[in-house]
Amino acid sequence: MVTKKIALLPGDGIGPEVCRQAVKVLDAVAERFGHRFEFSSHLVGACAIDATGNPLPDETLAACRAADAVLFGAIGDPKYDNDPTAKVRPEQGLLRMRKELGLFANIRPVTAYQALLKHSPLKSDRIEGTDLVIFRELTGGIYFGEKGRNADGSAYDNCTYSRPEIVRIANLAFQSAASRRKHLTLVDKANVLETSRLWREVVRELAPQYSDVTVDYLFVDNAAMQIITNPKQFDVVLTENMFGDIISDEASVIAGSMGLLPSASVGAEVAVFEPIHGSYPQAKGKGIANPLAAILSAAMLLDHLGLTAEAALVREAVDEALTNQILTPELNPTAPYTTEQVGSYVAFWIADSNEQQWN
Ligand code: IPM
Ligand code: MN
Repeated sequence: MVTKKIALLPGDGIGPEVCRQAVKVLDAVAERFGHRFEFSSHLVGACAIDATGNPLPDETLAACRAADAVLFGAIGDPKYDNDPTAKVRPEQGLLRMRKELGLFANIRPVTAYQALLKHSPLKSDRIEGTDLVIFRELTGGIYFGEKGRNADGSAYDNCTYSRPEIVRIANLAFQSAASRRKHLTLVDKANVLETSRLWREVVRELAPQYSDVTVDYLFVDNAAMQIITNPKQFDVVLTENMFGDIISDEASVIAGSMGLLPSASVGAEVAVFEPIHGSYPQAKGKGIANPLAAILSAAMLLDHLGLTAEAALVREAVDEALTNQILTPELNPTAPYTTEQVGSYVAFWIADSNEQQWN
């Protein structure tokens, strides 16, 4: 029996509805294992701007710091996307949270689920058996470099990486590779970018400490092609902030839906768990959003808290939902289930109820 404080940051768009399903699943886990999860909900993103003028209110940051783990939904609102002059944007809340909490590594596992092979636009024989994990650097690079406008009207975004910034995430990626299939691929653009050459240098220096791990180096353009043509070759993929953002969305095609990919952001302090998808405002309130990325993020949260049997049970329940085609419309357009129904199915399966009870 453990007691854990979980801060919920549901955010915007479909964030709140997918978070609700993840909480339902965590409640079922608590019930089944006799744990106590204490949830508190806090504002972030566009809803926080509307309420306070600040996309990451101090209260929210303090609540994250006081929690054992944070579950994050999504942020973003179209009213800001088409306004390049907006000074305050929802994304600033997410980026500041990552920086303030020192979340330097974003871990994004990608699995080709057997039950969903036919749902991917990619050929089944290419993706079957894919099991890779992307380690995306999250608090450096072009996202956080100096940006601005010059007097002549041009704009700039600087990309900088220091050695320690690379070393700390590279060590995590190497450790992960050592515990998996012992293969690390560094994705960079070392034929053009100086920062990428530094990444290569640092990874090459660290490699002897992990002598059982094979290291490969791939340029990002080539990696973007190979990740969907031959994804099975990858085990752990290590890359910088922006390349990781792009190739992880691309890799979600392997799983069959963006709505399936969870992530963990870890670093110095509390860890944050969030789906890789965005706020999908067009789907808000329609009951069509896939809650499984949020639920699988909750499974990563449980692992992080050392509750590995609990996490395994959540993944088993998700597998069960996929196998029985309990799927939201993007995966099952002809006989879709709602966000709520998918969440309930997983939660009831964890509680070990029979099937009649959940519907
Ligand atoms: C992600 C998102 C964010 C990012 C946006 C919303 C700032 O796309 O978490 O992948 O680019 O990191
Ligand atoms: Mn992204």
